[in-house]
Amino acid sequence: MSLQGSKTKALYQQAAKIMPYGVSSNFRYWGPDDTMVMTRAQGPYMWDADDKRYIDYRLGFGPVILGHAHPEINRRVAEAIQGGTIFAWMTPLEIEVCERVARMTGMEMVRLTNTGTEATMHSLRLARAHTGREKFIKYEGAYHGMSDYYLYSTASSRATAMGSRRNPIPQQNSSGIPKGLSQYVYTLPFNDEELLEDLIERTWQDVAALIIEPTMGNIAGIGPVPGYLEKVRELTAKYGIVLIFDEVKTGFRLANGGAQEVFGIRADLATYAKSLGNGFPVAAIAGKREIMMTMEPGAVSHGGTYVGNVVGTAAAVAVLEMLETKPILEEVKARGQQLMEGIDEILTEADIPHCMTGLPAMFGYILGTEVPPRDFREYAKGNAPLYEAIAVELIHRGVMPDADGREPWFMCHAHDESIIGETLDVFKDAVHAAKK
Ligand SMILES: Cc1ncc(COP(=O)(O)O)c(C=O)c1O
Repeated sequence: MSLQGSKTKALYQQAAKIMPYGVSSNFRYWGPDDTMVMTRAQGPYMWDADDKRYIDYRLGFGPVILGHAHPEINRRVAEAIQGGTIFAWMTPLEIEVCERVARMTGMEMVRLTNTGTEATMHSLRLARAHTGREKFIKYEGAYHGMSDYYLYSTASSRATAMGSRRNPIPQQNSSGIPKGLSQYVYTLPFNDEELLEDLIERTWQDVAALIIEPTMGNIAGIGPVPGYLEKVRELTAKYGIVLIFDEVKTGFRLANGGAQEVFGIRADLATYAKSLGNGFPVAAIAGKREIMMTMEPGAVSHGGTYVGNVVGTAAAVAVLEMLETKPILEEVKARGQQLMEGIDEILTEADIPHCMTGLPAMFGYILGTEVPPRDFREYAKGNAPLYEAIAVELIHRGVMPDADGREPWFMCHAHDESIIGETLDVFKDAVHAAKK
């Protein structure tokens, strides 16, 4: 049964005539019968063009940490833009965002960008400029945005095409990327100290950066095994490789200080986006003074017409002020924990082998196995069709996680206890329907 009601379908068909596949982002294309059109959102809810209401656990792929259309954030943005949105000069709002990001994350210096893609792209340039080396290491299953350099062996790649663990083959994720770029990337399975050490010891002279999402936000939130991040930190420090934490999904979500705070590891550079603006476009690169100062005008390029614009920075100041003054992320974590425990219980009662993954603010579950996967190759052995069948039953019943289990469930502060209770009731029905 199609996910589209009649008005949604008509709008989708209108869109498909003018926009390739009827979408602005390929990630939003679920096929001609299931691509959705939303018209509004408030708090934990989102409504489609047929006015069907969903409890939203995709939250725009993660940014909405406080809740949709948060009145205080909207008020602050509306007020700020009365005075103009862009000046091609600095604004006090930019300074305040950067000061708050530095204070909350413990990083020394900060520059703003608009999107996660820009932040990760610039962080790689910065690492290359700082070290004078050109290659970098990324993990299989990790997505770091749309720039050409990073589109290798993401969660959209086939695990079976990645070669042996000891000698992985970087899988290009898109046509249109020059073949030669593959010479700059080393891909690695997550959570394997021996492979990491072996690769770094063989190649470090050429390696500018290692980029890592400490808990993998594009494969169900799979986390690091004890000691792994410490090993990453030790080896990158020893060999002068810039350690980049991609905190686009984890930043201002897992904790005020992001994954660095949760895991107690200090990166050299970190990239932030999503929750920084609660849905308004704003992003940042933060890091050690010595590396950040490589961004010298005339020497290393960084900039953009819209970086630091008033819309994004007004939102970020308001979001960060709220996170700094109220225990919001602790509450998000507690409610996420409640939802995770409820889902775990329902899957156990339904006799479905599974394991829960990730952290409460951004979690997942993998079906068909009780052994938590350590990397993308192991994740790919899970029962994805059953996951999707349950997710589709949920969506029909008005609860919307992503239908693809690689994308975690995102929690926001507006998911209160009653919303969680309602979600779990629906989850129970959805599991029984999917099992049939
Ligand atoms: C870990 C990670 N890094 C970078 C990005 C790219 O961010 P954006 O979509 O804002 O360009 C994403 C997007 O989902 C992401 O999950």
